[in-house]
Amino acid sequence: MARLTMWLGGAAVLIACGSAAWADEPDATTRLYAEHLALTVCGICHGTAGNSVQPKFPRLAGQNANYLAAQLKAFRAQSRGDPDAIAYMWGMASQLDDATIDALASYYAAQRAEPSATGTSAQASRGREIYLHGVAPQGVPACSSCHGPDAHGLAEFPRLAGQHAQYVLKQLASFQSNMRNVAIMHGVAQNLNLADMDAVAAFLETQP
Ligand code: HEC
Ligand code: HEC
Repeated sequence: MARLTMWLGGAAVLIACGSAAWADEPDATTRLYAEHLALTVCGICHGTAGNSVQPKFPRLAGQNANYLAAQLKAFRAQSRGDPDAIAYMWGMASQLDDATIDALASYYAAQRAEPSATGTSAQASRGREIYLHGVAPQGVPACSSCHGPDAHGLAEFPRLAGQHAQYVLKQLASFQSNMRNVAIMHGVAQNLNLADMDAVAAFLETQP
């Protein structure tokens, strides 16, 4: 990052600004570059404001900035290893430096999430039950305890409201098989059966 050499009373003082200094407020050039990327590159798949239409591509609008930055770094470090992450995001993230990642994360966090699907079904009401209370006999904890009562997430816990059901289902299966290797979500998903994964995914897609 920027290095300023200043002369103070004849002594050279080197101030090195680490990238952490910019983490929350990207400078104007980085912010413009990130917006340009979001509109011309990322938007092809994720939608220009992060409200993707195709379920293969996760919705990013309104997602927590910390979570977004952590995922982009995980793609870049090649540690998020489910097949679609490898195929679509490893190459993409390899081109991004920390400052651009932070600016992209702020961009999407500030976008307004649009509803993805509406309506309720029997499946979605089963999903709501699981989301709020877990599945006690199988030792599945309530999702709301980490992802929040409204599924808007919190800091490191991603927003799930309005996410494509197909994407949520695929991620739950990836956590279960450890292809996406995250201990905390492996613990949650390991005893969740397919019908219940489907139900909770259907519920989440309908949430504003
Ligand atoms: C060619 C399509 C494509 C492009 C272009 C693309 N992505 Fe992705 N992105 C994907 C797919 C597919 C996934 C889901 C990967 C998975 O299933 O694990 C994804 C996942 C993500 C995630 C994880 C979301 C979550 O909820 O965990 C983030 C963040 C992300 N992309 C950001 C970006 C950014 C920023 C750019 C532009 C620099 C970008 N993507 C460009 C296809 C794309
Ligand atoms: C103990 C806390 C905790 C509980 C309980 C929990 N989660 Fe998570 N969840 C997390 C964390 C942390 C992540 C982020 C994982 C990462 O860093 O990749 C996550 C990620 C996810 C993702 C990936 C989101 C994305 O955009 O890719 C999905 C889907 C998910 N959780 C669904 C659920 C469901 C459904 C339940 C309830 C059955 C649940 N979680 C319960 C902590 C939790």
